[in-house]
Amino acid sequence: MSFFIDCDPGHDDVLAILLALAHPEQINIKGITTVAGNSTVQNVTENILKVLDYIGVSIPVAMGCARPIRREPEPQPAAHGVSGMDGPDLPAPKSRVDARHAVTFLFEEILRQDEPVTIISLAPMTNLAILFETYPKVRNRVERICLMGGSLHGGNILPRSEFNIYHDPEAAKIVFGSGIPITMSGLEVCAEAKTMLKDFEPLKHGGRVSRLAYELMDYYSGYARDRDWDYTNVFDAVPVAQILSPELFVGTKYRVAIETEGELCRGMTVALPCAGEPTEPCVTVLEHADGVRFSALMLDALRILDQKQHD
Ligand code: RIB
Ligand code: CA
Repeated sequence: MSFFIDCDPGHDDVLAILLALAHPEQINIKGITTVAGNSTVQNVTENILKVLDYIGVSIPVAMGCARPIRREPEPQPAAHGVSGMDGPDLPAPKSRVDARHAVTFLFEEILRQDEPVTIISLAPMTNLAILFETYPKVRNRVERICLMGGSLHGGNILPRSEFNIYHDPEAAKIVFGSGIPITMSGLEVCAEAKTMLKDFEPLKHGGRVSRLAYELMDYYSGYARDRDWDYTNVFDAVPVAQILSPELFVGTKYRVAIETEGELCRGMTVALPCAGEPTEPCVTVLEHADGVRFSALMLDALRILDQKQHD
């Protein structure tokens, strides 16, 4: 199965990609595309190029949309720093971004695959919405979208809105209405998939990849430490973990509509039970996670990648 990852690295995006990279036999990444979200599209693109160079992995990267479909970008320096990946001090990347725009890249590369692909969406869905609107036939070549975004009750930007949906609700509405099966990792399942800060401490003495993960987590968990939490939420690692170990998660099917208007509810994911014949495709919304085994999966992936550095 071929995978494409759309992201806005972002500390948790990087940790999610590291988790995927540890299991190429299950997640064969054919391309990474970037989009404005946590920081500018230029910054998040540079961030993932730096990381891939640093760990010696060659995967095509294509830069995407610099702004939401109809709104102003709202980067998140409080969580990720101005660069989008403050903390680690990595060398400037040597590898170059693909010459194509992310939308063109996804269209051409998805059609080149022998079988339908899975898209892992870890960011605002601007690239994906424009892909599906510009090239409707590509929808038939996407088997599933596994995304981090939305919520059943909570919010991390507005009381009921999660950032990836909030940042480009018009794009999310297009993607959720695309007819492509979706597995949604919202705030509720991410809250149960806790990463304990004590587990990351020893990584600073680990291998090259573990040390990077430690530096990422050291910066990213500042928000949690300021609140005396002993854990943090690596949001974007959850959809990847669900692909690798679905048995760690429990999901329920809902019809999910996106609120695109209103100051208080912009970007809210409105989930209704899939009773009877749903008028629109059902979304598998993950609601529960085995947090201990989720954390172990993340740590094990870092050990695997450290080992690959020595092989
Ligand atoms: O709400 C969490 C999401 O917003 C994650 O994808 C994180 O990287 C930020 O983009
Ligand atoms: Ca992200």
